[in-house]
Amino acid sequence: MREITQTVCCNDVRFVVGRNALEVLRELTGKIAVFHPLWLDPTPIRKVLPEAEYFPVEDGERLKDANNVLVLAKELFERGYDRGDTIIAVGGGSVTDTVGFLASIYLRGIRLVNVPTTLLGMVDAAIGGKTGVNFAGIKNVLGTFYQPNIIIAELSFLDTLPQQELRNGLSEVIKYSIVLDSALYNILMGSKDEIMRKDDEALEEVIIRSASNKLDVVAQDERETKGIRIVLNFGHTVGHAIESATDFKVHHGLAISVGMTCESKFAEELGYAEEGLVEDTLSLLTLYELPVNPDQLDPRPDPYKALKALEKDKKRRSDVLLVPVPRRIGAWTKAEIPVETFKGLTEQCLR
Ligand SMILES: NC(=O)c1ccc[n+]([C@@H]2O[C@H](COP(=O)([O-])OP(=O)(O)OC[C@H]3O[C@@H](n4cnc5c(N)ncnc54)[C@H](O)[C@@H]3O)[C@@H](O)[C@H]2O)c1
Repeated sequence: MREITQTVCCNDVRFVVGRNALEVLRELTGKIAVFHPLWLDPTPIRKVLPEAEYFPVEDGERLKDANNVLVLAKELFERGYDRGDTIIAVGGGSVTDTVGFLASIYLRGIRLVNVPTTLLGMVDAAIGGKTGVNFAGIKNVLGTFYQPNIIIAELSFLDTLPQQELRNGLSEVIKYSIVLDSALYNILMGSKDEIMRKDDEALEEVIIRSASNKLDVVAQDERETKGIRIVLNFGHTVGHAIESATDFKVHHGLAISVGMTCESKFAEELGYAEEGLVEDTLSLLTLYELPVNPDQLDPRPDPYKALKALEKDKKRRSDVLLVPVPRRIGAWTKAEIPVETFKGLTEQCLR
């Protein structure tokens, strides 16, 4: 078992990864509410927290409806939860996003522990304090910044995770390696077999490195106001445009895989990146069988719809997009790219 602690603004955030990492839950005191997906057997958690109350919920985007938050808040209130108690969110990003939002508004904030069960959750969604639910058909339109006290990446949950969901999470791991961590890049290049067969030691290493990269960035710029947290958006400008152009039928991890390929090309073409970056990006993504061009996506995104989505990107400032661009593996910089230039490059990349 390995762990790190990072101070983010006014809280210590503790991240623990390993097989049997759930043991850490024994340290909790007070009343404990465990929210978990209906399909997930909570027995491993019950073993360490026999006194807790268990609330099964649907997961996926169905759960992320703002109305569900009020239903869950009512349950907590009726059962007498107060600010000294703890909420545990067990599940993928859909559960940690929704239950995190609930924890942040219930009595103006109740202690939160995230127990991600997908690789994407362990390396990204459960870390960093962004919570969000969908409202009026708009994804993540209601949300807060609210740091969990503890994040527990229990490796045994990954035993049942399908390979495709593993790849979706690896796409974010690859993102950290390209813009922030050349050592992680080398580890990924050298350990594909171990990672894909879910070897504990290999997963522990890539998960803790990813968490540490994300927590470092979040500690410097929790609320994305200092131009540092934007680095986490590498691949996401084109990636979101792809998701939007396919009505979110292409999974986030696959969309940002093509997004990272395109944005590496832009970085080289516009002179931000050293020669070789695109080749290095392609080598790693293809090694993990992630898509690097739009023909590999199902459905194939319509470039025209993707360009329309770019115009509405939240990183847009008047006529420019403020985006992170890699300089070489493990290093990045901020770039202000005119929207028209970005659209032209995206069209070329998605055509
Ligand atoms: N807050 C953030 O910073 C942040 C970052 C990235 C993504 N997100 C959000 O996260 C969500 C996507 O995350 P996700 O892919 O983890 O979502 P998810 O919760 O929808 O899980 C994906 C799928 O995996 C299944 N699953 C979960 N754990 C499993 C396990 N251990 N074994 C087998 N199957 C399992 C789920 O039932 C679901 O079908 C999106 O809503 C996105 O907006 C948030």
